[in-house]
Amino acid sequence: MSRDKRVFPHKFAFALLIPLRNVLLSPRRLIERLELKESSNALEVGPGPGYFSAKVASILTRGRLVIADIQPEMLDIAKKRLDKRGLSNVEYRQCDGRAFDLPDSSFDRIFLVAVMGEVENKESYMSEFRRMLKTGGILSISEIAGDPDKMPADSLRRLASGAGFNFYRFYGNKWSYTLNFRKGI
Ligand SMILES: C[S@@+](CC[C@H](N)C(=O)[O-])C[C@H]1O[C@@H](n2cnc3c(N)ncnc32)[C@H](O)[C@@H]1O
Repeated sequence: MSRDKRVFPHKFAFALLIPLRNVLLSPRRLIERLELKESSNALEVGPGPGYFSAKVASILTRGRLVIADIQPEMLDIAKKRLDKRGLSNVEYRQCDGRAFDLPDSSFDRIFLVAVMGEVENKESYMSEFRRMLKTGGILSISEIAGDPDKMPADSLRRLASGAGFNFYRFYGNKWSYTLNFRKGI
């Protein structure tokens, strides 16, 4: 496993659960941007302690959410929080930093919040996202003001288009934003 030294330390997971974060991006706003349906199958990469995961899982009453993080400690924290809320439609996977042990064309949505800048093998991840998304599915990448690893929107667009994604929607402003891409045929 390759764990980049820039990875957000799990010891500080509590800092990702501060409600003040809602000012920049709330779980509710993210859900709107993800265009989720009750039956969607979603993959969240880099959920940390699950600040966004709980709300997303609660929407997917006929679907499921897979959360995949490179730090098992983050998954443990997220699992405790989600179990407490009775959310049983969630699966937990540890990432190895390169490839995902998940089937082709199995997700309607793949999303990341404040993660992409920490990923060492960005091109490999992008091609994995394309492999795992269903045709017409949405890859949604959010970046948040104040994150030292925040990626510029134009770099994200270049990266995603290099992997064959079609950019179709920008939400937010120049400091905190969500870029949505579709997987075409
Ligand atoms: C800044 S935190 C953001 C957590 C969460 N998305 C949020 O906004 O609250 C970044 C998270 O990405 C995870 N991460 C970093 N590199 C990763 C990789 N290559 N694969 C999966 N997760 C990764 C870290 O372990 C950490 O949980």
